[in-house]
Amino acid sequence: MKPRLTLALIYGSARDGRFCDTVADWLLRHLPDMIEADILTVDPAHLNAGSSMARTEVERRIGRDLARADGFLVVTPEYNHGYPAALKELIDCYQKPWSAKPVAFVSYGGVSGGLRAVEQLRQVFAEVGAATTRETVSFANAWEQFDAEGNPRAPEDVLRRLRALVVQLDWWMTTLKHGRDTVVFREVA
Ligand SMILES: Cc1cc2nc3c(=O)[nH]c(=O)nc-3n(C[C@H](O)[C@H](O)[C@H](O)COP(=O)(O)O)c2cc1C
Repeated sequence: MKPRLTLALIYGSARDGRFCDTVADWLLRHLPDMIEADILTVDPAHLNAGSSMARTEVERRIGRDLARADGFLVVTPEYNHGYPAALKELIDCYQKPWSAKPVAFVSYGGVSGGLRAVEQLRQVFAEVGAATTRETVSFANAWEQFDAEGNPRAPEDVLRRLRALVVQLDWWMTTLKHGRDTVVFREVA
């Protein structure tokens, strides 16, 4: 029997007024129809929202959510041809919760649609032991691609690409969960 999975959607931007919410909200409307999984959200904006004591508690909570997750969907923009600092800070706060789990990307931005940030993130996630998936969805000039209700203007095409991404992510989540549950991982010093 296929185990129940948990998918964490990770916000890449922590900016006030971020476009990230438009893309993430669209995903959260469609993901439940595409994958049998509990879906939770992880937001780097919460990390620096309060006092240092509050931060410790937020770090713990996010750590628990990441540990619970069997896979990650990162929704990232591109800043100066790279990934946002807030997303890198979130990744750097943790090591173990990423290990032997898949990461997929939905990106957005100007002409490149955030794909340069995605390619850099593949290097970062490799270092924390995660496996990045091939299929991506990207929105070039993203603000032109969504209508006032936050829906893509060409929904069939992006939904087809999102389905392909989710099928691949589901396979990796299921397969790596089985691996983590059944095969002892020995690190060679
Ligand atoms: C500091 C900064 C640098 C940016 N650099 C790029 C870039 O190199 N390439 C690009 O396609 N878009 C770039 N953009 C445009 C962003 O991708 C776009 O504003 C996006 O909406 C940012 O995501 P956010 O609103 O969720 O933070 C940049 C935006 C900012 C604020």
